[in-house]
Amino acid sequence: APKDPPGSAGSGFVVVANRLPVDLEHLPDGTKRWKRSPGGLVTALEPVLRSNNGAWVGWAGVPDVDVDPIIEDGLELYPVPLSAAEVADYYEGFSNGTLWPLYHDVIVRPEYHRDWWSAYVEVNRRFAEYTAKVAAEGATVWVQDYQLQLVPKMLRMLRPDLTIGFFLHIPFPPVELFMQLPWRTEIVEGLLGADLIGFHLPGGAQNFLFLARRLAGQPTSRGTVGVRSKLGVVQVGFRTVRVGAFPISIASAGLDELSRRRSVRERAAQIRSELGNPKHILLGVDRLDYTKGIDIRLAALQELLHDGRLDPSETVMVQLATPSRERVESYIQMRGDIERQVGRINGEFSRVGYPFVHYLHRPIPREELVAFFVAADVMLVTPLRDGMNLVAKEYVAARSGVNGALVLSEFTGAAAELRQAYLCNPHDLDSVENAIMSAIEDDPEAKRRRMRSLRRQVLAHDVDRWARAFLDSLAQDRVAGSALLPD
Ligand code: ADP
Ligand code: F6P
Repeated sequence: APKDPPGSAGSGFVVVANRLPVDLEHLPDGTKRWKRSPGGLVTALEPVLRSNNGAWVGWAGVPDVDVDPIIEDGLELYPVPLSAAEVADYYEGFSNGTLWPLYHDVIVRPEYHRDWWSAYVEVNRRFAEYTAKVAAEGATVWVQDYQLQLVPKMLRMLRPDLTIGFFLHIPFPPVELFMQLPWRTEIVEGLLGADLIGFHLPGGAQNFLFLARRLAGQPTSRGTVGVRSKLGVVQVGFRTVRVGAFPISIASAGLDELSRRRSVRERAAQIRSELGNPKHILLGVDRLDYTKGIDIRLAALQELLHDGRLDPSETVMVQLATPSRERVESYIQMRGDIERQVGRINGEFSRVGYPFVHYLHRPIPREELVAFFVAADVMLVTPLRDGMNLVAKEYVAARSGVNGALVLSEFTGAAAELRQAYLCNPHDLDSVENAIMSAIEDDPEAKRRRMRSLRRQVLAHDVDRWARAFLDSLAQDRVAGSALLPD
């Protein structure tokens, strides 16, 4: 169990997520250091927690270590230990071999194993028990994402005094797909332990309401759910659970500011010259994940080169790919496929000293990443399915020059807000190719108009606004008590 929280009064605001915002790294010389964890959840929540002076309960990213809580700058981090077997069965297994592919439209086939499920239940219970120790009387606890869907119910049984919110950072799937899951009822009931359940999009919230009726047998509201408005309601005995859509975002003002800095501008110019001063720099930035459609954008580029629509002497593609889930079989395979594709394109279309695709398989430091956004004329975001996709918003926030173009898959949550992007259907290669060519060839004034509109969206709807919308709704639940079902 965790050490007693400071002052032993506990924290009034607690975030619970599979990962802490930092990963423990063991260096070859035997020393340890902390580095930023991968993924959009951390990007979004870290600034929110800093400004709310809260506690964060999560895993330190390595198996079999028991680390003391860390308290710095008003941020308290409580590491939850996982054994190597739990990492294999709960994290790589049930979270990323079952739920991740199931919730992302079965792009790869989800595997259903009883052992993985047992580990998921056990680890969820551990997270609930740790959180019950860390949270102060009457605290607000905000549980995050698909790895911890049983925590709301488990935590409520341990600590009925808490106000519990849950947010899902990935898509909530269509009912037909969710129904495959052998433990579908347990998951729905686990989530219903929360006072407020948030999704990125109204569609996800509506899928969940249907399942709450069908699987948990609870009465629900039936009207449509709005964006940050018109919440749905599930009546669970005397408790009222609300269900809403809260599209997540980024700390856009900070990114805008960073992109204007002289050091970043100079680095962007240097990147362009290091790439051989091409006329067009195309950029992809992703965790190396099969949902991201990295293979699709490469296939589109290969065909455009082959058909002579793209000139390799004036165009360069940079793909920055953070290593991710490297022991999961589908990720091992996909990495091989993508690296072969990069090799094939370069073999066919590069000149000595001027590869067409520059591929870096490593995380890039924040400032350097922003310099790449500033340098890129066209950003390629082509997932087959993505809950939101923060990279798309980051690119827009970094384009303070109001130029550049975003190619964006319709199958991302971001596409619901970024309507002025060059939208494409990643299942239709022609659609991706045409979007890329329009993003390159459209006249500059048309591109500026689009970028201006995208920037208005992203700068107005930042991550603070997302957190405030969710937490304000959650606080209203607390005062409202049991509400009558609308309609
Ligand atoms: P996901 O949560 O699935 O990883 P998002 O696009 O929502 O996808 O968030 C990814 C986050 O990780 C963004 O903040 C992005 O800047 C960061 N990121 C992605 N790839 C890299 C990379 N190669 N180097 C550094 N940061 C990266
Ligand atoms: O938002 C999606 C998400 O899966 C987060 O839950 C997760 O922390 C992040 O992407 C990165 O994945 P992982 O933690 O498996 O490295």
